[in-house]
Amino acid sequence: MSVEIRKLSVENVEALIEVARESWKWTYEGIYSDEYIENWIREKYSKEKLLNEITRSWSEPDLLFLGAFVDLKLAGFIEVKIKEDNAELLRLYLKPEYTHRKIGRDLLSEAEKIMKEKVVSECTLYVHSQNHVGISFYYKNGFTVKGIDGSDFLMIKKYE
Ligand SMILES: CC(C)(COP(=O)(O)OP(=O)(O)OC[C@H]1O[C@@H](n2cnc3c(N)ncnc32)[C@H](O)[C@@H]1OP(=O)(O)O)[C@@H](O)C(=O)NCCC(=O)NCCS
Repeated sequence: MSVEIRKLSVENVEALIEVARESWKWTYEGIYSDEYIENWIREKYSKEKLLNEITRSWSEPDLLFLGAFVDLKLAGFIEVKIKEDNAELLRLYLKPEYTHRKIGRDLLSEAEKIMKEKVVSECTLYVHSQNHVGISFYYKNGFTVKGIDGSDFLMIKKYE
């Protein structure tokens, strides 16, 4: 299995929507209904919005949008927004069959490498409080819970 982490390009948009849809269905099974997930994907992962974000990630250094390609096929992605010395991890999703193989860790590490170059001192994220896979992954990667916001935990990681 060869894994390559690189910036997403506009040609990846269809695959990106498919990865998001599959990952959302797996992650939020029993948390959100299928209908809710479909609506979310249609709205937040519309082709138009994603093309815009991918394009911005090439022109604006403060938006990181990276894909993990396994044997050249998109398996997952990470999106991070940097504001001065703070970063917010907006999205990190893998296709279910590619979870538990350290690909998420590699995506996060690559994003953190770039964050550190930009002298980011802390990264925050929101994760659903019932998303046990996500929460345990973030704990194992140095994040701690800082607070609760509705149904989400706010997690934080500080960098030297
Ligand atoms: C969270 C996610 C990005 C982690 O990436 P990953 O490559 O699967 O994780 P890694 O292999 O680097 O890390 C493994 C740890 O993550 C968790 N984990 C990852 N996949 C898991 C799975 N299929 N079942 C249970 N736990 C899992 C466990 O804590 C695991 O630790 P362990 O090996 O001691 O059991 C990935 O599992 C994923 O996309 N999950 C669904 C989407 C999601 O929850 N995203 C976060 C939303 S905010």
